[in-house]
Amino acid sequence: MKQYINELQPGVKVNSVFALAKKQLIPFRDPSKGKFLSLVIADKTGQIEAKLWDGAEEIAAGLAEEDLIQVEGAVSEYRGSNQITIEKVSPAAAGKWQPEDFLPAGKDKQLLLDELRQLVASLNNEHLKTLLANWFSDKDFLQQYLTCPAAKKVHHACIGGLAEHSLEVCSYAVQVAKNYSKINRDVVLVGALLHDIGKIMEYRYQTSIAVTDSGKLFGHPVLGWDMIAERIGMQPDFPAPLADHLKHIILTHHGQLEWGAPVLPQTPEAMTVFYCDLLSGRIRQVFDIIQQDEDDELWTRYDRLISRAIYRGYKED
Ligand SMILES: [Fe+2]
Ligand SMILES: [Fe+2]
Repeated sequence: MKQYINELQPGVKVNSVFALAKKQLIPFRDPSKGKFLSLVIADKTGQIEAKLWDGAEEIAAGLAEEDLIQVEGAVSEYRGSNQITIEKVSPAAAGKWQPEDFLPAGKDKQLLLDELRQLVASLNNEHLKTLLANWFSDKDFLQQYLTCPAAKKVHHACIGGLAEHSLEVCSYAVQVAKNYSKINRDVVLVGALLHDIGKIMEYRYQTSIAVTDSGKLFGHPVLGWDMIAERIGMQPDFPAPLADHLKHIILTHHGQLEWGAPVLPQTPEAMTVFYCDLLSGRIRQVFDIIQQDEDDELWTRYDRLISRAIYRGYKED
């Protein structure tokens, strides 16, 4: 029977199948001891680190990232996180498992599709409407948009995460546009909907979520910029300033040079997409931290990525 990662507590014995998300051989501090094996293993409920201390090099050669593996060992706590000390690990018997056992599922696809269609229908600008209508009528592309995760683990790291996150950014952006009549609602909306489109090229997601070679080489803002430039190129009458504005939004949505934006957002619409993207990612991250940490303590564990623990004492029902 499958054991799920969110059920693994310190002291629990593990003997189950997981997806191998990451494999690394790391030298011991004392080099005469050789190397140990550090794995990140995953299923639909999350990820956990697993370490093999003995005979690591030989065993590592038989394991491939994104394959399914059978892991035997025990769970312990290390620096505030659970990890597995492996006793035995080997490739798992094929054919017995479904991808749904290993990748978490997000919102229902039909709900995402309905929301997407409503947004496209609400556009007034004919060029933008045609761009989206043509692009989303490509069945393979639509399927990828509705299936791709938004991240490896930080936020919306689930099947459908890209669409769920993008639609969330749209809903925030529409609110901003309501408050500022000078913001171009259609541009901000299409920018929000497409800001992370490069993630379709950035991630592979069969048994675990992994970054592709293009993802590593270029990153999704540049990949997205390229995809949009290509699509716009198919509409010869698409106005050049509108094309540049959209490309600027995609390229700058990480907002700061140190967060991966090649240049800073320099229009109200680009700044709106940046802040709404940050808001969607951060709020989801906080709820993920609260949820992962199942005990009923007033404070969650300290989270390194957001440099804080979250207080959950304010429950005013
Ligand atoms: Fe992004
Ligand atoms: Fe995003």
